[in-house]
Amino acid sequence: MHNSGLDIDRIAFFGRTYTEYLSMFDLDGSVLKRGRILDCPAGASSFAAEAHQLGLDVTACDIMYNHSVNELIEKSKKDIQHVFEKFDEAEHLYVWDYYRNKEDVIALRKKALKLFSEDFPAGFKEKRYIHGELPHLPFPDKSFSLVLSGNFLFLYGDRLDLDFHKACMKELVRVCSGEVRIFPLVGLDAKPYPYLDEILSFLDFAGVKSEIVKAPFEFQKGANQMLKISL
Ligand SMILES: C[S@@+](CC[C@H](N)C(=O)[O-])C[C@H]1O[C@@H](n2cnc3c(N)ncnc32)[C@H](O)[C@@H]1O
Repeated sequence: MHNSGLDIDRIAFFGRTYTEYLSMFDLDGSVLKRGRILDCPAGASSFAAEAHQLGLDVTACDIMYNHSVNELIEKSKKDIQHVFEKFDEAEHLYVWDYYRNKEDVIALRKKALKLFSEDFPAGFKEKRYIHGELPHLPFPDKSFSLVLSGNFLFLYGDRLDLDFHKACMKELVRVCSGEVRIFPLVGLDAKPYPYLDEILSFLDFAGVKSEIVKAPFEFQKGANQMLKISL
């Protein structure tokens, strides 16, 4: 049995649905209606697309959004296949509660991709999808009242170093006037991000209030907490 976790060679370009976002980030109407929301990196998530249909003001940002929609669809299909080929070796690191089985997860990743790709061309023109590369985002200070960052920071801590994480924290805080939520706090090996204390001290030193709070969602074992930064 492979014990080191999900053994993938790249940061996957795929995404999650609106309903999965509500659980991961413990969101409800009162939080979502506070104002402009940033999802970064959004990948091929359908959060922005579905939220737009509901009349919410969501901007999605990702390093990959300088590609055409067809390139993004191809890339995402390959990454879904790549990740879930490797998945069986790491299945013991997951809780089968929110999702019934692997097929269920794949179906949701594909649903997110479909809704994302249907919305992307118009949304890109309307500037709801913006190309950007952390840790330098193309938004003025305090542009958003809520910033969501899922399945990137901490999760890929084996290849993104501590300085990169600190720079990203600073940048997500810079573009936000209300609250930043980051999920999960574990790596691909389902172990807690090893430098979380350094990150908390870094935020504290910068005069920013942060706390670790429970999220009503767990897929990777133990990945049921998020970092909430209040500004
Ligand atoms: C696994 S996806 C997460 C997408 C979504 N937030 C979710 O929870 O499903 C990770 C994303 O990070 C993007 N990414 C990688 N490096 C980045 C960077 N430096 N700046 C912005 N996006 C980046 C990838 O293109 C990919 O879409």
